[in-house]
Amino acid sequence: MTDKPVYRVGLIGGGRQGTHHARGYQLHPRTEVVAVADTDSENRELFMERFGVPGYETYTEMLANEDIDISAPNLPVKANPGAVIASAESGVKGVFSEKPLAGSLADADLMVEACASRGIPFAAGLVVSSHPDYVKAYKIAAEGGIGQVIRINLYEDNKQVGTHGLNLARKFANKAGVDFVTGFVSNDPHGEYEEDYGQGERWYGGLGGHIRFTNGVECFSSYTGPDYLGLEVVGTHGVIRNIHNTGVGLRMFRTDNPKDNPELLEVEGTFLPATPSPRERDEEGWRKPSQVMMATITAVAEAIDTGDPLEVTTGDDLRHSLEIAIAIRESARQDGKAVRLPIQDRGIMMYPEVWRWHYKKEVYGEEWYREQMTEHVKPGEKYG
Ligand SMILES: NC(=O)c1ccc[n+]([C@@H]2O[C@H](COP(=O)([O-])OP(=O)(O)OC[C@H]3O[C@@H](n4cnc5c(N)ncnc54)[C@H](O)[C@@H]3O)[C@@H](O)[C@H]2O)c1
Repeated sequence: MTDKPVYRVGLIGGGRQGTHHARGYQLHPRTEVVAVADTDSENRELFMERFGVPGYETYTEMLANEDIDISAPNLPVKANPGAVIASAESGVKGVFSEKPLAGSLADADLMVEACASRGIPFAAGLVVSSHPDYVKAYKIAAEGGIGQVIRINLYEDNKQVGTHGLNLARKFANKAGVDFVTGFVSNDPHGEYEEDYGQGERWYGGLGGHIRFTNGVECFSSYTGPDYLGLEVVGTHGVIRNIHNTGVGLRMFRTDNPKDNPELLEVEGTFLPATPSPRERDEEGWRKPSQVMMATITAVAEAIDTGDPLEVTTGDDLRHSLEIAIAIRESARQDGKAVRLPIQDRGIMMYPEVWRWHYKKEVYGEEWYREQMTEHVKPGEKYG
């Protein structure tokens, strides 16, 4: 129980991920689920039944008819900007949308501005970069725990338009601005044009490059290399590393005297160990909301209470990592020429994987989707 306000949450998109988030809000002591908006009547009705709330076909109707404190868009990416902006304009107190954020910087700018201009905290993505261990690690790095951060080695293909690795790199660079980016892209069907996805190619290839931050930190991002997707934050006195940009398991190694004794020793007990993340179920059969989900909901509720800035990943963070991803590809399009930020052409489109951009039922078909709505969310229950 809590004596603090319990915030009323409206889900926008009650599909696979929206249902999972809704369970998190349902269990969190600071929130309650009060409504859903979903254009698919099958998903909407199932959600209404599962959570005992009214449903609307459009978010416009839900926002007009319900008193929503926290808007929770869990949508195909192409629908995300409109939902976040409409939520902010309707007067909600906080927004926590899924990721990736948007397909263009123009949309990302509008989303961030719609929230920032009204003082609305805007968290984005159920992402490990919001985990308390990572928040702790950014602070350790910023406060000299591994000396002065000089370099970040990132091993990732950055297919989610910078959502994971590039966002982490920027946070470990203390959110400095970016001076310039040089980049390369593999297997890029969208390298030369920006039309919407057709039936053919599914995604661009890996994105890699060199990112020079204005505080001198350099990030080298490669999609080839070790068989893990992780990073190394290299400081003058040590290293923080991870072998999983979507999981916990950070480790820190340091020396007090790099000149005379450069051997790095592990600082044990600083971070949680890496744990395999099976999709654990609770006794009612629901997929358990993760620690990062509960921490992000807490952060949004507390930001509404206090007006303090969010420490979890925000819409503004994902706007910056999208910008770096776009800069990498713009550099690749110009044979590796350095691209300076901020990018002036805010209309350049960069799509995430096709199943994130579009509604998955349209991409994978009804049978697959129905299976997901039972197996992914609550086993044993019939869909539709
Ligand atoms: N953080 C993570 O670990 C994680 C995991 C899975 C998905 N995601 C992200 O979450 C988002 C949603 O994923 P999903 O698998 O639930 O997607 P999905 O394709 O199943 O679609 C979600 C729901 O949105 C509804 N919808 C589509 N357009 C709408 C609109 N304009 N208004 C209202 N409802 C609309 C659909 O009917 C569906 O019920 C995606 O952006 C995805 O990238 C994140």
